[in-house]
Amino acid sequence: MSNDPLLQPFQLKHLTLKNRIMTTSHEPAYPEDGMPKDRYRAYHEERAKAGVALAMTAGSAAVSKDSPPVFNNVLAYKDEVVPWIKNLTDACHEHGCAVMIQLTHLGRRTTWNKGDWLPSVSSSRHREPAHHHFPKLIEEWDIERITGDFADAAERMQAGGMDGIELQIYGHLLDQFWSPLTNDLEGEYDASSLDNRLRFPLEVFAAIRKRVGDDFIIGARYTADEVEKGGITAVEGLEISKRLADSGMVDFLNVIRGRIHTDPAMTDVIPIQGMKSAPHLDFAGSVKKATGLPTFHAARIPDVATARHAIANGLLDMVGMTRAQQTLTLSYAARRKKYGEVVACEPSRFLEELPEQYILWPAKTALSPEQNKARGEQTMGSLKALFD
Ligand SMILES: Cc1cc2nc3c(=O)[nH]c(=O)nc-3n(C[C@H](O)[C@H](O)[C@H](O)COP(=O)(O)O)c2cc1C
Repeated sequence: MSNDPLLQPFQLKHLTLKNRIMTTSHEPAYPEDGMPKDRYRAYHEERAKAGVALAMTAGSAAVSKDSPPVFNNVLAYKDEVVPWIKNLTDACHEHGCAVMIQLTHLGRRTTWNKGDWLPSVSSSRHREPAHHHFPKLIEEWDIERITGDFADAAERMQAGGMDGIELQIYGHLLDQFWSPLTNDLEGEYDASSLDNRLRFPLEVFAAIRKRVGDDFIIGARYTADEVEKGGITAVEGLEISKRLADSGMVDFLNVIRGRIHTDPAMTDVIPIQGMKSAPHLDFAGSVKKATGLPTFHAARIPDVATARHAIANGLLDMVGMTRAQQTLTLSYAARRKKYGEVVACEPSRFLEELPEQYILWPAKTALSPEQNKARGEQTMGSLKALFD
């Protein structure tokens, strides 16, 4: 067996992950009628074939009707999702890849004129700069209803064969409660204390855990530092991390640093080409050190050397290589299509020959073909060498 730190298995509770590379949640916007049908399955299946140990599928799969997707996400509040999830999980498991899904309620990060035209709800009375629509200030009966929706959605995912879920707690409803920047409530959920701000997210974790039992992985993908005046500081973020760990309800932490309420802010969370490599890696490592919980993280860790450093030096347990691993996936897909498994792929060639269904929309829209090719060549060599 290889002694490469990246190729060592990781034991996440009862679940063995075969290596240390995961894809973090990234909605490819492939649902049809809100369901992850065959194209969706094919996309993740290809990534599983390319060697990833854990696929965190979807991106912000919606738990409630009043969290309508703004860019074609999975509707986890519908019972009909279960067989489609089963197709997806079976396909990934076939290749030894564990599968989980990110669930969320968007809160104010949506608009009223999507889905069923229901008012959006939030702990904030102010609109989010990126989505512009004023939310209704959330009421106690909404809180109760949405808590139940989270538990229902988690149960559907468990029925569909998922190994676990993570909750998105950055920019969405759960952290709108816990950030002083977006909590205008009064009463026991108000912004006056951390206890009150954390109350709703912890109630949601408790409701989910009660519903799915102990043999189902539950994680938090959350901002542990909003990097904004008046927001959650790194110190408070560490305190939140410890409280999540101490709650005993959370099996892993997936660390985010920053906010996504504007496009520039989001670019610091998801750095683009030309920006600094692995800008939040050491910070994520400090969270792991403080909590001792399994810790995942992704933010432009684009090469094997950096990923290996993250594992070898105990900064992370699982490294998210979401866009980088896609390059590898695409190479395998193109190689199979054109040459069969046996012929090695030339990076400059496969990027010209990709089957359309394997191209994620930002790759098509944000990068020119030349940039795409350069990025592919940069990451392809090292990732391919790792898995071949
Ligand atoms: C198209 C796209 C959609 C994404 N959607 C989500 C999402 O719904 N939820 C989430 O937590 N992160 C989302 N992300 C962020 C990724 O999970 C990841 O953090 C980001 O791509 C940085 O990791 P990387 O540099 O390894 O790609 C998305 C990223 C991309 C490119």
